[in-house]
Amino acid sequence: MDTLKVNVGHVLDYMKMDEIDTLLPEVLAAREHLIKGDAAGNDFLGWVNLPIEIDDDMLNRLKDDVQRLQKKSQVMVVVGIGGSYLGARMVIEALQSEFAAMNLGDKPFIVYAGHTLGEDYYAQLLSLLDKVDYTTCVISKSGTTTEPAVAFRIVKAHMEKKYGHDEAQKRIVAITDAKRGALHEIATQEGYPMYVIPDNVGGRYSVLTPVGLLPIAMAGFDIDRLLLGARDMHSICINNNTLDGNPALMYAAVRNALYRKGKKVEMLVGCQLNMRYVAEWWKQLYGESEGKEGKGLLPHSITITTDLHSMGQYVQEGERLIMETMLRVHKPNATVPVPTDERNLDGINYLAHKTLTEINNCAAEGTIAAHISGGVPVVEITVPKIDEYTIGQLIYFFEFACGVSGYTLGINPFDQPGVEAYKKNMFHLLGKPGF
Ligand code: PA5
Repeated sequence: MDTLKVNVGHVLDYMKMDEIDTLLPEVLAAREHLIKGDAAGNDFLGWVNLPIEIDDDMLNRLKDDVQRLQKKSQVMVVVGIGGSYLGARMVIEALQSEFAAMNLGDKPFIVYAGHTLGEDYYAQLLSLLDKVDYTTCVISKSGTTTEPAVAFRIVKAHMEKKYGHDEAQKRIVAITDAKRGALHEIATQEGYPMYVIPDNVGGRYSVLTPVGLLPIAMAGFDIDRLLLGARDMHSICINNNTLDGNPALMYAAVRNALYRKGKKVEMLVGCQLNMRYVAEWWKQLYGESEGKEGKGLLPHSITITTDLHSMGQYVQEGERLIMETMLRVHKPNATVPVPTDERNLDGINYLAHKTLTEINNCAAEGTIAAHISGGVPVVEITVPKIDEYTIGQLIYFFEFACGVSGYTLGINPFDQPGVEAYKKNMFHLLGKPGF
């Protein structure tokens, strides 16, 4: 198995395959809109061909900058919020050791800022930055978002105090709009290396631009393999017009079919802790793309078996609103068998020599069976293993399926008018001129 697969076998207890097949004309029409760019939001379709149109000169410049910055970094601070940090964080957390923070100096360790206004967080961050050698990548498409602007001001002041203005300048890279915005202005005046977020790529679809690629490369991961995975999935999504041949069409069709049958919540179930940020990125992608006009599956997530001991009860017996999408990994990158213990005081010798993956797979199968019997249909998405190539596939698969699914739902999947509401209130409360 080398390609991501979608299996709807566990949905068929809940509805017939015909009910999913009925959506084929709608998902095909939605796919055409993405390819032809002839529907709402068509000025934000730059992501569709991004994997095959990536600018090699930009990529080479980015790799040179990364090499230079890596030499100066035990830590890199990535400043950004929403689509300006979740993609990078998803890939980095999926690929790095859970204990990477303990090995500072091995590869630059990525920390995040600008995604919160929690004061204690920044106090703790600054106290870390006092002790380590660090660089900063500041990302904002608009260049005017308050949270990253505040965070960058704090980090920039710390850097300039610690390193002096000229050295700080050499440790900062900015990713923003080609022409507009305060960040563009700061980067130009200060002479920071700058990368552009294309106008026609929205924040939540920007992980395969420098927004995601630079931090991912900084953390030591292979962005060429990531792009290759995305390219291969692009080819599958663009060239196949059957549900069986095109996993993105199948996923878009089945989640819309379930939504129409009353499932209002989609729970993304990760089987490994390192998938947590895949879920966070996916929540933004689907929540911001589809949650409008009073419509859309509410994206939620759990990790098994961790959350079976917290949310499991609700999923099994609470309101029957939930469908699940289980994200499975065919093969682990390492094996850890359970040791034998002659005394067997804990009574688990029946598990001896089984690997944790075997045990986890039984937990997953048991969960699927239990949830189906509790009225929760389960879609399975399986990736061969976790590496740059398969994560690249997963990214493009979810993006393409999201565009198809949003058009099938009857909304514009590429705007986010609702995000502005809190900002106006906050600006008024803070006394921003004009509010
Ligand atoms: O997907 C989106 O458009 C948003 O989540 C943005 O990424 C987020 O609001 C940050 O915006 P900006 O990059 O302009 O600072």
